[in-house]
Amino acid sequence: MSDTHVSVERREGVQILRLTRPEKKNALTDAMYNALADAMVAAEADDAIGAHLFASFQGVFTAGNDIADFLAQATGGGPQGLRGVMRFLEAQAQAEKPMVAAVDGLAIGIGTTLMFQCDMAFASPEAYFKAPFIDLGLVPENASSLLAPRIMGHARAFELLCLGEGFSAERALQAGFVNAVVPSAELDAHAFGVAARLAAKPREAMKLSRALLRGAPDERLAVMRREGALFAERLQSEEARAAFMAFMSRKAG
Ligand code: COA
Repeated sequence: MSDTHVSVERREGVQILRLTRPEKKNALTDAMYNALADAMVAAEADDAIGAHLFASFQGVFTAGNDIADFLAQATGGGPQGLRGVMRFLEAQAQAEKPMVAAVDGLAIGIGTTLMFQCDMAFASPEAYFKAPFIDLGLVPENASSLLAPRIMGHARAFELLCLGEGFSAERALQAGFVNAVVPSAELDAHAFGVAARLAAKPREAMKLSRALLRGAPDERLAVMRREGALFAERLQSEEARAAFMAFMSRKAG
């Protein structure tokens, strides 16, 4: 486990990324996004790697963006320039190698929208997907406003992204962003096996086929940047500040 709370493991042609900050439910800081982005860019450039796998740690995928980081940005103390989160989102949108997810437990915010960037996903019965952007005064990110309606239709995407309703593993399976529900104890091995099979296939044929199925990244990048501009604006809003403060002080009363 590294200082950055991101574990990077490579075997049999698969790079496995895992968030390792269990004391904060694997909530993502900017440093963690940067570590993920660095690892993804390195794996894309490395001929030894043929697939990415996003896995869970200690029964949690992620509780989403660190709300203390959101609050710091809302009050002007956040990191400046090209932030780690945008580097990570763009690394996903531009990836040419297949991406697989193995979700055990909570997958909140970007933990849910990451599924729409992945090519295949597996969930344990304990998986719980939730995208509470509006409750936080924010807007959906990670090109989810484009990809979610495409995958599950407008009504279900609206329920998930705008009503902010949580989806169980079974519901995610019905909605079409999870391939199978696998018992927690078998989840990692199952998802790894699929990722390794993808990585072992002829690389160029895989890359071309994936691009045919997904389309060029331009559209996703354009939507992602439009969402990102609104998201940055919303971070400064009174609605967002109030929601972040409410979360940060919820245990005080
Ligand atoms: N950002 C920062 N800290 C977070 C966090 C987040 N997104 N999610 C959890 N944590 C922290 C909690 O503050 C708590 O820290 P503490 O022990 O220092 O108080 C610790 O992780 C454990 O979380 P806790 O809330 O006690 O666990 P829980 O099982 O009762 O609830 C969640 C777990 C994930 C449902 C709840 O923490 C939550 O709603 N988190 C926010 C999710 C969110 O809105 N993410 C942003 C999406 S855009």
